[in-house]
Amino acid sequence: PLFFFNPQAGIRDSSTSRGLGDVYKRQDRRKVMSNIGKKYSTGILKAAEMAAIAASSLIGAGDKEGADQLAVDAMRTALNEIDFDGRIVIGEGERDEAPMLYIGEKVGSGNGDAVDIALDPLEGTTITSKGMPNSLAVIAAAKKGSMLHSPDTYMDKIAIGGGYGDDVIDLDASVADNIKSLAKAKKTSPEGITACVLERDRHNEIIESLRAIGSKVILIPDGDVQGVIMTSQKDIDVDIYFGTGGAPEGVLAAAALQCIGGQIQTRLVIRSDDEKARAEKLGIKDLDKKYTINDLASGDIVFVATGVTEGTMVRGVKKSGNLYTTLSLIHISEPTRRRGISYAVVCLKK
Ligand code: FBP
Repeated sequence: PLFFFNPQAGIRDSSTSRGLGDVYKRQDRRKVMSNIGKKYSTGILKAAEMAAIAASSLIGAGDKEGADQLAVDAMRTALNEIDFDGRIVIGEGERDEAPMLYIGEKVGSGNGDAVDIALDPLEGTTITSKGMPNSLAVIAAAKKGSMLHSPDTYMDKIAIGGGYGDDVIDLDASVADNIKSLAKAKKTSPEGITACVLERDRHNEIIESLRAIGSKVILIPDGDVQGVIMTSQKDIDVDIYFGTGGAPEGVLAAAALQCIGGQIQTRLVIRSDDEKARAEKLGIKDLDKKYTINDLASGDIVFVATGVTEGTMVRGVKKSGNLYTTLSLIHISEPTRRRGISYAVVCLKK
């Protein structure tokens, strides 16, 4: 079921707003939700909204590091307000390179459930700095131990939406074979398949193969979390995602597909001894392992993506005085597999 948050539920004025501001539209709690969903989706949602709002002040400003930093600070502050024992498993990098939201950092009050957090406070820093569409603030929260602790390396990825058998795609098969198999499962021809690919020189062969077989290719400049998720959105014409992108983004996308329905297969791309050492430090023994969706993220998950710039899936942050409106996708895993769109009006204290 799709549920909307009621935007009229009570906008307070700035004098009663605390610190970074309050978010006043909260979800409909009538239906039973998974444990993490029930207890923490509101807090997780607020953390993504706050990051999106913070980053939005630098849309088009040509300062991707600055926009990222604002998003990181705001997300961290909001995560620390949640009454849980949170731990970052996918974050801004290892502790020595990321002073905040580093892998292993504890967030929250320390009480409540042990929850693993995968996040990207600003997915699409370049997009944001150039004022281009489709940047997001993204968080996935899951029961401790149920998301891959991935190093910040590259990762090969292939993904499709829900409703297909487990044998339809294979990371190790050729592009043409994957397209033929998917076309057969979708009861169409390769011309009836649309693929999404990050526009990078390293993907030229994939793009050529796709065009040679007659499939439509949607090239995106950045943001492969969204690239993967689009395969699962019925109203968006993307059937399959191919390519190499960030490994943390791969885990986030897997968490989303695990909630929405879909499949993803990945493999880490380890290019140096340093990357090898970083992977091993995180407990990865088999560097060539082909990961399925269940290896990447499983169980009780909440996934939230809030639009920063205007987007195909969600609109970006709108500002009017000190009121900000945001749109977010919320996906909650089995047993209830709920999805929602949150429209929030946030009043920030000047
Ligand atoms: P940002 O760092 O600008 O947020 O870019 C994100 C992204 O496009 C991811 O979505 C993707 O996984 C990765 O960068 C691709 O890396 P590269 O730009 O090095 O090809």
